[in-house]
Amino acid sequence: MQQDRLWSEWHPVCKAEELQGEPKQVFVLGERVVIFRNGKGVHAFKDLCVHRGAALSLGKVRNGHIVCPYHAWEYDSDGTCVKIPALPCDRPIPKKARATVYHCEEQYGLIWVNLEEAPAPFITYPEYHAEGHRTVLCGPYEVKANAPRIIENFLDVSHLMFVHEGMLGETDHAEVTDYDVTFADNRFITSKIPVYQPNPDGRSKGGYADYVYEILNPTTARFTKTTEGSDEAFTILLAVNQEDQEKSKAFMLLTRNYDLDAQDDSFREFQDIIFYQDLDIVESQKPELLPLDLQAEMHLKSDALTIAYRRWLDELGVENGTLAIREERRNKRKKSIMH
Ligand code: FES
Ligand code: CO
Repeated sequence: MQQDRLWSEWHPVCKAEELQGEPKQVFVLGERVVIFRNGKGVHAFKDLCVHRGAALSLGKVRNGHIVCPYHAWEYDSDGTCVKIPALPCDRPIPKKARATVYHCEEQYGLIWVNLEEAPAPFITYPEYHAEGHRTVLCGPYEVKANAPRIIENFLDVSHLMFVHEGMLGETDHAEVTDYDVTFADNRFITSKIPVYQPNPDGRSKGGYADYVYEILNPTTARFTKTTEGSDEAFTILLAVNQEDQEKSKAFMLLTRNYDLDAQDDSFREFQDIIFYQDLDIVESQKPELLPLDLQAEMHLKSDALTIAYRRWLDELGVENGTLAIREERRNKRKKSIMH
């Protein structure tokens, strides 16, 4: 089903390097999740001990098991409870003593969680592993907005000249030429969109850079920027985790195939400035949930990509943004259990 496509997406929850010895609490679509690492890899459980509901994330990882902070029940990485200290040793551990296990993967320098039984295929970001390319991880950026608002801002071409004036565009080159948006290989992709930039290749001379945008899934998008006559390419992958109804966390991978010896920090600092320029705008947008009814706002031809995004979310059944749908589905499930 289309709707399940969204539900089964992967959500980035933290930088891989942040997950070492201690378990960590994260939120995904309103769900409290604990992630931890052991010799077998990374794991995600519902952050709740089945004994008395304590947060497992307050506990420890010991001998590869996650140990509840309250009465020290121990769960192995499959979620099976393997030790209950209060239980006399001649009594078996109840079969029901299991943690709820979610899918968890380490990829592209991030930890990703999937709450559904049948996960969608993982996104591919070939630049990350490509020879002669270097990736800088930016964020996490905390945003008081829904994930689709953040993705849409990233896909919006005609704001570059205003919100990022002097950095990614210039106000006297604000016109956006017509471009195509096509759906191929399970994602949207645009034709090249030329944007006049004050310093597109770092040589302090104004010129046009070509942007090609792609929407990989409802909460992951990317663009690649090139300049004519040059092999240099700069790609940004944006992946957003909607933590709950009010908050999201955004991660960005910046990949370049030039200046490989340059300081990564300079790219990170530049991107931080750009992101915070967008933040006030995105957090100010009303309604909080992206309006998918195209009659609700006004659209120009230059908005073709964000129109495609809204239409697609609508087709996927994301009427009111990701979280609202999850609530809706929960309620449906509840109803079917009650009947
Ligand atoms: Fe976790 Fe009791 S609440 S062991
Ligand atoms: Co912007």
